[in-house]
Amino acid sequence: MNPFVYNSPVRGHDFINREASIQKILRETVLGKSQGNIWITGERQIGKTSLLRRIESLNGAFQETVVPYGTDKLLKVVFVFTNVQGCTGADDFFNNLAQNLADQMKFPAKKSKIAYDNFIAALKETYEKYDHYTVFLIDEFDAFVQTIAFQQPQVATSFLAKLSSLMQEVDEIDEGVKTFSCVFTANHDMKELLNENFIDSRGSGLIVEALTLKWFTISQVKELAKRYLHGNEIQFTDRELEICFGATQGYPYFTQKLLSMMYETKKIISDPAKFEEVVKEDFSEMFKETMEDWGGENMPQRTIRRLKDLVTEMEIGKHITKIFFALLEGYLKTKMMVI
Ligand SMILES: Nc1ncnc2c1ncn2[C@@H]1O[C@H](COP(=O)(O)OP(=O)(O)OP(=O)(O)O)[C@@H](O)[C@H]1O
Ligand SMILES: [Mg+2]
Repeated sequence: MNPFVYNSPVRGHDFINREASIQKILRETVLGKSQGNIWITGERQIGKTSLLRRIESLNGAFQETVVPYGTDKLLKVVFVFTNVQGCTGADDFFNNLAQNLADQMKFPAKKSKIAYDNFIAALKETYEKYDHYTVFLIDEFDAFVQTIAFQQPQVATSFLAKLSSLMQEVDEIDEGVKTFSCVFTANHDMKELLNENFIDSRGSGLIVEALTLKWFTISQVKELAKRYLHGNEIQFTDRELEICFGATQGYPYFTQKLLSMMYETKKIISDPAKFEEVVKEDFSEMFKETMEDWGGENMPQRTIRRLKDLVTEMEIGKHITKIFFALLEGYLKTKMMVI
């Protein structure tokens, strides 16, 4: 069976290479003396959801405790994943977080008409009754902020200001205590997000530590192939894995996709030169189609620039047509005009 995974977040034994990021997140949010928040920036399909799901899977096994700064209350930790991409407004956002927290803690969520009250009630129950500190793992946060900013930038500004103050302390609990941290993922870094959506940055900047997800290194790509192909009759040579890295530069999605293509090709072509030629051709075609598919919307300028650099760096230059370069240039120009 072809063991490579793309187009869905990876789980369990398939998840690799993010130990340092996980340690940083835990250090910032729950292992330190004070509890902070994290903003994870990463391109499309780099592994943001996989990473949050991995942290969520620590529930039950995670034994460290938290003493919220300024208190002497000893708390266990609960990790709560929520994808907020489809949330339509602040009410929807707060209701979703409240519901997922209640589900994870296994108590019924309050369902009053006021979403904010439901959110506070869930936090309060978790903190006071069950002695847990909450870490919200908020996926696709920039997409949500873009949705509300598109309706009205002012709404996004006041939502972010409210969230920012809640992240510092919740007045309704124990006369003001920090009861939760947030780990956000986004394609944009926070400054880009505010700038690109005309959101007033005064008062709406959240206090967060920044973490940028990286593409895999060559040794990580080799490690990935070794692990996925353990016990498999098909194996790649060092040279073949170097071709993979040359073409993808370790971009996680493209790495897995190309390894998957190489796996299929290897079954039918044994001549190394022919194999290399076919793989490069198939990959450049796939890369171009994916770019056309992803293009433009919701992509920060930084990502488009990086993708353009990637095409230049890739050892598949001759397979990439001039039209494709023009396409990327086009995206860049449109984005530039918006600003
Ligand atoms: N830790 C990992 N180990 C192995 N492969 C990974 C890892 N993280 C990501 N990948 C590869 O990248 C793909 C995308 O992962 P994931 O869905 O988590 O990314 P994402 O950043 O959430 O994507 P999107 O921008 O679409 O939300 C996976 O299907 C897999 O091919
Ligand atoms: Mg995702």
